[in-house]
Amino acid sequence: MRTYFFLLIVILLSGCDPQANESITSPYQSKIEDLLARMTIEEKAGQLTLYTSGWTVTGPALRDDYMDELRAGRAGNLFNAHTVSYARELQRIAVEETRLGIPLLFGLDVIHGYKTTYPIPLAEACTWDLNIIEKTARLYAKEATSAGVNWNFNPVVDICRDPRWGRIAEASGEDVYLGSLIGAAKVRGIQGDDLSDPETMLACVKHYAAYGASQAGRDYHTVDMSDRTLRDTYLPPYRAAVDAGAATVMASFNELHGVPATGSEYLMKQILRDEWGFNGFVVSDYTGVMEMIKHGIVENEKQAAELAFKAGVEMDMQSGFYSKYLPELIREGKISESALDEYVGKVLELKYRLGLFDDPYKYLDSVRESETLFSREFFDHGLLSAKESIVLLKNEGQLLPLSKNIPSVALIGPLADNKKDLLGTWHVAGIAEKVVTLKAGIENVASNVRINYVRGTGFEGNDRSGFNEAISAARRSDVVIMAIGENYQQSGEAASRSDIGLPGNQSQLLEAIAATGKPVVVVLMAGRPLTIGWMDENIPAILNTWHLGTMAGQAIAETLFGDNNPSGKLTITFPRNVGQIPIYYNMKNTGRPFNEADKYTSKYLDVSNEPLYPFGYGLSYTAFEYADLNLSADRMTKNEQIEVSVTVTNSGDFTGEEVVQLYIRDLVGSVTRPVRELKGYEKIRLNPGESKVVTFTITNEELKFYTFEKKWESEPGFFQVFVGTNSTEVLESRFELL
Ligand code: BGC
Repeated sequence: MRTYFFLLIVILLSGCDPQANESITSPYQSKIEDLLARMTIEEKAGQLTLYTSGWTVTGPALRDDYMDELRAGRAGNLFNAHTVSYARELQRIAVEETRLGIPLLFGLDVIHGYKTTYPIPLAEACTWDLNIIEKTARLYAKEATSAGVNWNFNPVVDICRDPRWGRIAEASGEDVYLGSLIGAAKVRGIQGDDLSDPETMLACVKHYAAYGASQAGRDYHTVDMSDRTLRDTYLPPYRAAVDAGAATVMASFNELHGVPATGSEYLMKQILRDEWGFNGFVVSDYTGVMEMIKHGIVENEKQAAELAFKAGVEMDMQSGFYSKYLPELIREGKISESALDEYVGKVLELKYRLGLFDDPYKYLDSVRESETLFSREFFDHGLLSAKESIVLLKNEGQLLPLSKNIPSVALIGPLADNKKDLLGTWHVAGIAEKVVTLKAGIENVASNVRINYVRGTGFEGNDRSGFNEAISAARRSDVVIMAIGENYQQSGEAASRSDIGLPGNQSQLLEAIAATGKPVVVVLMAGRPLTIGWMDENIPAILNTWHLGTMAGQAIAETLFGDNNPSGKLTITFPRNVGQIPIYYNMKNTGRPFNEADKYTSKYLDVSNEPLYPFGYGLSYTAFEYADLNLSADRMTKNEQIEVSVTVTNSGDFTGEEVVQLYIRDLVGSVTRPVRELKGYEKIRLNPGESKVVTFTITNEELKFYTFEKKWESEPGFFQVFVGTNSTEVLESRFELL
């Protein structure tokens, strides 16, 4: 029976991605079969069970009942148990005290760094630099694996068009094309080319599927959308990460089409396995199996276990229902033992591929841990990534960069001399003491400038007691730098906001400081786009820095004082107000696109349709000019390609980087198509006066979509081509697909 099962998988998967198939033809098959033959049903259910470790002041500490489960071989995997010494003891129990000695997987959410923290994912996406992003993932994998973690609940590839949703900070923004490239880059960084390398770990693509589309931006809320939008916009990044070889996938909390993802055979079997050929394992999200009771799709715990199992979720995170009910469900014949073996086989397979059976302690070496944590290369790369993530939103009168010779700056705001909040959301193991604050960064970069620092206010409430001191600091300084925005808990999980303006009374403080008449630079730090209309109208310079991690202050100071020229481009639209949400660049045209002269066209009475800052937007201290958009042909067949070229010139005074962006529009389709879709980009560096011809290739691939016939293909007709510095300022041409 078991041999048949392996054979079946080989047959089913032939023709799929070779990397994904690798495990099937692996040398572990007979070992796995041998192990399965010796395991009890309870032990098998244990391999499909994942529990978290709690934390006390002294470090991780597993609950007593989980400790009992572990000793009985009924808890095969743990997370949050990092630190080598503690994880080593747990691994020793698994290997030496359980009947079969099967080693544990140790998971953790290493979302944008382990102890050394890099920019939040939304920030790093704004680099548009896949090399930087892949290297960041490589480095945090290196640091986390040195501390015992061999499974990373990352990458997060949820497309999101609603900045009210706090978890927008964890992924790459609104675009399917860029989001897919970034998801794949992170898988490569986390897993490397060889899972048995002690510096690589298992990746876990999440949250599958469409978690970023929760209604009204409220976390854990309902998701409902057409299958077309699902397949065109939300699914491709998960698929790209799976195609890049991701070993595991996490089911999302939300329902989709009326069924919680954790119980959705459509998502887990039909799409993930049958259509995409995924052959790793799926883990539920935290208590996701249990939550199906509250969703109202099952009546009780046992039914929840049965539904999740049958849907294709191999591992139960934290509910404990698989361990509790699978043996019973098997004895009752509701689940077959061969299905159980299939699931357990996948988990064991990955434990073999990591090399845990050869050496269960390979990630648990305290010498390696102490030699690796906070390595110089982590700081250096963290600084590079942080600098490239910064987006310059406004720079009236070239207020920036500031001269290092100005006598004084007022440095005001709750993020100016702050360490912890600069780490951003999900910094799990990140160490605040290591953070370079903005104040320290300015002291490093512009040591002759006197800093008049005042916190001024906090992130909540309306306490104005610090305002006067801040105003007086502004009055006696030449320039004001305001470090304002969100603290690390105001974005991320369970941190949705219905008003995404500056929290607390920071806006009032900003207005009071602006009223002094001093030139003001805002350094905006947040985990999401904020509604900053007043700021945009009244403040001359705005640097959007997100939460940049350990090297934040250094990166920002280098940018403020001109040692770094900002080049980040937004991967998420900044709305003017919450009422415009969802607002995104690749929208549909509608039958009544806005026309000022016609009342009965699509618009608001009280706000423009345009965003405050569009997708792809970001300024530089220098200026780039675009000219000579040229297509190599004005028509092509599906087997041909068209070269699109444009000349970009640095017409300003600074060396700078520019992300040259290519968009297309399919003018007529069997279903309506977006007004613009990103299909390529190149990041270039130009000295003042220098020009470069940038060339893109359009093939049939870039023109495909999910057609009316439910096929992923292109359709003949006319296409517009746009090339420019963001999604709205573009040169334009067209061609025909024959
Ligand atoms: C989050 C996941 C995370 C898990 C384990 C859940 O609350 O949704 O993203 O991986 O916790 O920490």
